[in-house]
Amino acid sequence: MCGIVGYLGKPDRAYDVLIRGLKRLEYRGYDSAGVALVTDDGTLNVHKAQGKVSNLEQKASLGDTRGALGIAHTRWATHGEPNDINAHPHVSQSGDLALVHNGTIENYSVLKQALIEHGYEFKSETDTEVLVQLIDYIHRNNHCSLEEAVREALLQVEGAYAIAVVERGNPDRLVVARKSSPLVIGVGDGETFIASDGTPIVGYTDKVIYLKDNEMAVIERDKPLRIVAIDSNAPSEIDIQELKLSVAQLEKGGYDTFMLKEIFEQPETLRDCLRGRIASDGRVVLMGVEMNKDKFLNAKRITLVACGTSWHAALIGKRLLQDFCKIPVEVEYASEFRYGNPVLDDKDIVIAISQSGETADTLAAIQLARQKGAFVYGVSNVVGASIPRNTDSGTYIHVGPEIGVASTKAFTGQLTVLTLLALAIGQLRGAITKEQVKQVTDALKEIPETIEETLKVNDKVEDLSKIFTYAHNFLYLGRGYNYPTALEGALKLKEISYIHAEGYPAAEMKHGPIALIDAEMPSVIIAPSDSLYDKIISNVQQVKSRGGAVVAIVSKGNHSMEDIADHCIEIPAVPECLTPIIASIPLQLMAYYIAVNKGKNVDQPRNLAKSVTVE
Ligand code: AGP
Ligand code: GLU
Repeated sequence: MCGIVGYLGKPDRAYDVLIRGLKRLEYRGYDSAGVALVTDDGTLNVHKAQGKVSNLEQKASLGDTRGALGIAHTRWATHGEPNDINAHPHVSQSGDLALVHNGTIENYSVLKQALIEHGYEFKSETDTEVLVQLIDYIHRNNHCSLEEAVREALLQVEGAYAIAVVERGNPDRLVVARKSSPLVIGVGDGETFIASDGTPIVGYTDKVIYLKDNEMAVIERDKPLRIVAIDSNAPSEIDIQELKLSVAQLEKGGYDTFMLKEIFEQPETLRDCLRGRIASDGRVVLMGVEMNKDKFLNAKRITLVACGTSWHAALIGKRLLQDFCKIPVEVEYASEFRYGNPVLDDKDIVIAISQSGETADTLAAIQLARQKGAFVYGVSNVVGASIPRNTDSGTYIHVGPEIGVASTKAFTGQLTVLTLLALAIGQLRGAITKEQVKQVTDALKEIPETIEETLKVNDKVEDLSKIFTYAHNFLYLGRGYNYPTALEGALKLKEISYIHAEGYPAAEMKHGPIALIDAEMPSVIIAPSDSLYDKIISNVQQVKSRGGAVVAIVSKGNHSMEDIADHCIEIPAVPECLTPIIASIPLQLMAYYIAVNKGKNVDQPRNLAKSVTVE
């Protein structure tokens, strides 16, 4: 959600680095963009534009873009509509300071009132402008340095932020800080980069520092970097890490969109995800479990917390953990869990699932769970993100950067890791036999090839999508392991095609949604040959008797659905617990082609952000 880029370095290089960086961050979702540059003689120039970064470039090209210091922003509006005035950077009334901010200032109205009483006038509707005015007020009144004013202001602020501030008249200093929103510092040769994640930094340097929560950094030309704790001003240790990202990973590799590329790279990403995690005898080896055997042996309950697609993965994770570990499992939306007074103690394990590793609700949920004594395990994709750094242990899904806002390869990566995790805990607790583990791991080892096979449905799904492009509503139905797959199929369609779609447990349909079914409302039924196949057949018949069109996802070789459904899409047969991984592939493609047929921007759907760092 929104992005920040900053640069201090070589003459007149800032603008180019900042614009390239903003483009790399476009995938996170935004509605306006802006840049502030300090020229060598200290002039502060600000350019802002509603809409795409290319609009900003057009506008900025008419003005002054010189300078070796600058900050830039893509905004995802929380306070005030997306327009040029509300776009960041915001400049203080004195014209001295420019600031970009990711997050929300919760007590902004109280602070704003106090500043108005001190004679400050506001141009925008944002919470952010309050922060820059407050820093300006402290800076002038206390006659203190910029960093001291930033620190003092942040002590008065409630909420979440990653910020970067520059000052007119000082082309040599950049101040940044973070609390609950991410910020990475790239350490180059005579130049320093800052960004919301590693994507704007890759290609310039592979040395990064992940700023920790409640830390601020002062970046000055020809001086060592200083990082301090915001509350105590005590210096923090500078921990330089390697940025494990390549430019090639950020490109479309010949595909029209990132989403299609990410759908098609799933054989490879799951190969990476599985690498080194299945021993030659079929046992699962997960370091996070091996190193915390006591916690997993003594656990009395597991709670999975996540949002969106990751929450759908959690629902499937529940089935896996129950089946393989015979342990009570609960699933909660992170946003509900954090305010739901959860009853937890040190015999509880909380598993947080998050592709980005930055989702604000999930992060808050794990912080709460840890406070209550639970052992918190993370399943994340982005290495070094806040969630993996704030959990007791965890497993990365290792599927590489996911740029398309609609999650695809991360979902199948999450399901793969959750399967491994359930098997690892189950084998440790003696809840599953070696043979049972081996049966699943044998199929898992072949999952990359099975997905390659599944992707052959591409042309058929593309053809089918043409029939359904203009439907206004869709129903997605599944049972057992594939009820969450139905939810995920519906979410994919909603997100990128803006068609209303509902996912439902197939047998629940007759308790209400069946009233919606008519010739205008197609149903997608996920019906692999599993333990509930015979049951789902009667649900399909209920749809057909009411005139609804049915697209059924069935296992290869099972022809019994052909006489009932209007269209069948065949997927390879796999053990029941792995069917969601395979069945999601045609659902991803269906959503993709319908959105493309409608001319939608599938990689950056309206209103959505890739990484939701606000509540
Ligand atoms: C997925 O297609 C969505 N865009 C969204 O629901 C996403 O899964 C959710 O915001 C959670 O993100 P996370 O996995 O990065 O925590
Ligand atoms: N709350 C700020 C605004 O609405 C920042 C939003 C963001 O994170 O982009 O401008």
